[in-house]
Amino acid sequence: MKIIMLGAPGAGKGTQAKMIADKYSIPHISTGDIFRANIKNGTELGMEAKKYMDQGQLVPDELTVRILLDRVAKDDCKNGYVLDGFPRTIPQAEVLDSELTKLGDKIDFAINVDVPDENIVNRMSGRRACVTCGATYHIVHIPPKNAGVCDKCGSELILRDDDKPETVLKRLSVYHEQTQPLIEFYDKKGVLKNVDGTVDSAEVFDQITGILG
Ligand code: AP5
Ligand code: MG
Repeated sequence: MKIIMLGAPGAGKGTQAKMIADKYSIPHISTGDIFRANIKNGTELGMEAKKYMDQGQLVPDELTVRILLDRVAKDDCKNGYVLDGFPRTIPQAEVLDSELTKLGDKIDFAINVDVPDENIVNRMSGRRACVTCGATYHIVHIPPKNAGVCDKCGSELILRDDDKPETVLKRLSVYHEQTQPLIEFYDKKGVLKNVDGTVDSAEVFDQITGILG
C-alpha cells in the first residue's frame, strides 16, 4: 500500500503517518525528518536544507526528489510506504508519478488532513519533538508522560526551529501557493481522500483506517 499524506504544516500528517506505519507495517518516510536528521549530523545536505527550512521556504525540488527516490528504492519499501511531506510541489508529484509508472506501480491513497489556518499556529507553538526518534507531542493535546522527555526513547523534547510564529505563517503561505494544488492533482487521479483533521488525533485515525481498511 502506497500512501501520501497531504495537509498544511501542523495539520497532523506526521502524527497520523506514524500510526499508519505501525498499524500496516510499512515505513513512515518524512522528508522533513530526513532533513532534520542531516542538520543534526552536520552533513552537507543538512546545511543546504537548513538555509531554506529556517526561512519557512521549500528545499529545492532537485535535492528533495533525489533523496526521496533513493529512500523509496530501499528494500523495506517493497510492500509500500507512507510519505509525509512529499510531494510538496506539482513537479515533485510528477517525478514520483513517472517513476512509479515505470515500475508499473501507482499511489493508492492521497489522504488530505484538513485543518483551517486558524488552528495551525496554536498547534505549532505547543508542539514538542524528540531530538532522537522524531516522535511528536503537543503540550496540551498530546502531552508526554513526563514533561520534556520522550515516552518512546527517553530523549529530550524540543521546540522545532521553524515553529516560531513568524516562520509558521511563512510556511502556511508557501503551503497555499505551492502544495495545496496537489489536492486537485490527486483528486483527478481518483485517489484523494479528505479527512477532518480538527478532531482528536484518535478520531482522525479512525477516519483514516475507515478508508484504508
Ligand atoms: P515538515 O517536517 O514536513 O513540516 P510541515 O509540513 O511543515 O509539517 P509539520 O511536520 O510541521 O506538521 P505535521 O502535519 O507533520 O503535524 P504534526 O503531526 O507534527 O517540513 C519542514 C520543512 O522541511 C519544510 O518547511 C521545508 O523547508 C522542508 N521540506 C520537507 N519536505 C519537503 C519537500 N518535499 N520539498 C521541499 N521542502 C521540503 O502535528 C502538529 C502538532 O499538532 C503536534 O504538536 C501534534 O502533537 C499536534 N496534533 C496532531 N494532531 C492533532 C489533533 N488531531 N488535535 C490536536 N493536536 C494535534
Ligand atoms: Mg511533520
